[in-house]
Amino acid sequence: MENKVVAPAENGLMKKIVSHAKEYGFVFPSSEIYDGLQAVYDYGQMGVELKNNIKTVWYKAMTQLNDNIVGIDAAIFMHPLTWKASGHIDGFSDPMIDNKDSKKRYRADVLVEERAAQMEAAGKKDEADALVKKLARLLEADDLKGVQDLITNEKITCPISGTANWTEVRQFNLMFSTQVGSVAEDASTIYLRPETAQGIFVNFLNVQKTGRMKIPFGIAQIGKAFRNEIVARQFTFRMREFEQMEMQFFIRPGTEMEWYKKWKETRLNWHKALGIPAEKLRFHDHEKLAHYANAAVDIEFEFPFGFKEMEGIHSRTDFDLGNHQELSKKKQQYFDNDIDEATGKPYGNYVPYVVETSVGADRCFLAVLCNAYTEEVTGEGESQKERVYLKLHPTLAPIKAAILPITKKDGLPEKAMEIYNELKYDIKVTYEDKDSIGKRYTRNDLIGTPFCIAVDHQTLEDNTVTIRHRDSMEQERVAISELRLKIRKETSWRTILEKV
Ligand code: GAP
Repeated sequence: MENKVVAPAENGLMKKIVSHAKEYGFVFPSSEIYDGLQAVYDYGQMGVELKNNIKTVWYKAMTQLNDNIVGIDAAIFMHPLTWKASGHIDGFSDPMIDNKDSKKRYRADVLVEERAAQMEAAGKKDEADALVKKLARLLEADDLKGVQDLITNEKITCPISGTANWTEVRQFNLMFSTQVGSVAEDASTIYLRPETAQGIFVNFLNVQKTGRMKIPFGIAQIGKAFRNEIVARQFTFRMREFEQMEMQFFIRPGTEMEWYKKWKETRLNWHKALGIPAEKLRFHDHEKLAHYANAAVDIEFEFPFGFKEMEGIHSRTDFDLGNHQELSKKKQQYFDNDIDEATGKPYGNYVPYVVETSVGADRCFLAVLCNAYTEEVTGEGESQKERVYLKLHPTLAPIKAAILPITKKDGLPEKAMEIYNELKYDIKVTYEDKDSIGKRYTRNDLIGTPFCIAVDHQTLEDNTVTIRHRDSMEQERVAISELRLKIRKETSWRTILEKV
């Protein structure tokens, strides 16, 4: 049987979401006037607002809801030995394979996984599971020849050339490197960080001492990470430059499973609090553990191209701090003066264990966008219409309210502008007076604005306006004096944070 690998991202819904994101200012291909740069994207005027809101609510959930978690903002460049200690120089690679006819490069493990997905779709779940397990065993044993044999035996072909004319499988390091130093002879190789976590590990003692932190405590950080991904597709799902939101939770050795369980639950709740329904989220235990972990699970979201990883929760033991201690020759230890009930003595000095939560800001953005994209049929018979809108959580929406005078005369624009000027200090609002009110409602639906405030002739008489609700399209009349409190309440961080 010839098995063509079909790029799953090329399904209709995903295409619609990608073009919606571009058309309404959420995400643009990077340097598009030069035909773009593969796997790199820019966030537009709406996208940056939505992404910033997601980042803010993550940061607050970490550092505001937990008085034992603090934030930092470490540099992207780090001493090169960092990446030796973390294992990234020696072990951060993916198995790659080239097709000699199309000259295209693939991740060998992804080719096999996609083959398994095809089997599952064809009702052969047992065969698919067996294939995935076999792949995991071969990768665990670093048996690249075995992975190659699997590709040959499964008769996997290149989706471009259609042939099985493959090179051998090789390891490919995903770190980008560059030179630092202005004089060529003195220049040394440094790396663009492939994860933000190491900036936290190397600052563990700085924060612990200056913040007088007691274990258990966490350090949270949001920042850019870079990976030279072999397979770069599925829009912002897999990028070469992306943003991570990571938290390292430093704990006493032996307590890691308890904290691992707690963070699994808390992080799942956070995703649900953003408005993502439970049935679109699931846990997926790792078959193959990363070089640093003794337990690991992904939180997966059901993207239009299937359930895929959005966040990783890893029990990293003392792997990182232990290695930094060894390579830097600086103790990375904590003195724990709590009493160990078993011995009646303080726990004393140890290298803490770490449970990490790591979520991609861009993947989370994509999940929120995919979840919000709604096509709906309204009306009946001849007046039936299709409506597209973004059902975003009001707190995450780029614009919270649009202030719209129903006509451009009779003093309505002036009154609407007065309202806009009053609200803008507290709430992200816009003012629009071009086109019919219906068209303006539609434009705001498309970017997910939860409230449209219509200013009409009655407003001039009694200082009331109508609020048109995005999802139900229902309208209610409220006093201008109540607007600020009402909108703030429905778009406050609290609406999300109290559900985490
Ligand atoms: N510090 C642990 C770590 O980096 P990871 O599973 O490699 O673990 C964590 O990455 C998260 O970062 C992923 O769950 C994903 O959301 C995001 N991520 C990783 N690679 C990415 C990429 N190429 N593009 C977009 N997001 C990515």
